[in-house]
Amino acid sequence: MTYSLQLFDDIITNPLKDGVLVIQLNRPNEFNALRTKLLDEIAQVLVRAEEDENVRCVVLTGNQKAFAAGADIKEMATKSPADVLRDPRAASWKVIRNFKKPLIAAVNGYCLGGGNELAMHCDIIVAGENAKFGQPEINLGIIPGAGGTQRFTSLLGKSKAMRYVLTGDFMSAKQAYEAGLVAEIFAPEETLDQAINIAKKIAQKAPIAVELAKEAVLKASDSLLESGLAFERKAFAVLFSTSDQKEGADAFINKRPPVYKGS
Ligand code: CAA
Repeated sequence: MTYSLQLFDDIITNPLKDGVLVIQLNRPNEFNALRTKLLDEIAQVLVRAEEDENVRCVVLTGNQKAFAAGADIKEMATKSPADVLRDPRAASWKVIRNFKKPLIAAVNGYCLGGGNELAMHCDIIVAGENAKFGQPEINLGIIPGAGGTQRFTSLLGKSKAMRYVLTGDFMSAKQAYEAGLVAEIFAPEETLDQAINIAKKIAQKAPIAVELAKEAVLKASDSLLESGLAFERKAFAVLFSTSDQKEGADAFINKRPPVYKGS
């Protein structure tokens, strides 16, 4: 099965090597903002990677400036609650969430909003010293919508999750490491190679044991996850009926501070 022959617009897939497939997010001018097409392309590759027994581990990465700066705010700006509830992105997130093989995020630069949520869908996050993590949706008059409220809390604990979700502040790679979000920190130019080294080690283990180990570790935090995700999804959609959400997106696009009215 080939990956490199398929032409994608928003991602680059490297040829499979030593059982490791590398997927690079490739919207460099937009800080790899996760438009619907980009998420769909990741999902398409993962569906094939799951079927392909030669793929033993997948590494997701961005570039030196950004892993991903979140959902595409321009694409999201004018959405209604109904659009959000019927969003095709949910199907892509489901593929990523249910992917049975190990996923490693190699993060340099900004890892924000949906980008941080994508990293947290991965089983291991390794980061360059220049990485910046955060859930800045509150600055746009909305909340995280792809599991951020749930996964951030289970990884960081309530107080730290609130600290970052309610202020939108970014945390450094060192803070993310100390908080348990990140497994290891490297020099930025080494991040991807080091992630691939970890992936190669995993690729040599017994595949069924790896799959069950992943499933078992996820069970440690999964019991409340589904109901939390369902609540978050509805709350996220409801916020698209507020004028503050339209104000937040418009202010970002027009590079001005938002003025929120609580409506
Ligand atoms: N969506 C769309 N475009 C984005 C983007 C995003 N998330 N992030 C950056 N861009 C675009 C900018 O609009 C800008 O485009 P133009 O050149 O056409 O003006 C370009 O990328 C460069 O961005 P900046 O000029 O802002 O660069 P900067 O160096 O000053 O700041 C940044 C970089 C801190 C990442 C800043 O761009 C930023 O704060 N981005 C938004 C981060 C964010 O709020 N993410 C959450 C999105 S909502 C979400 O993710 C919902 C969810 O959970 C599903």
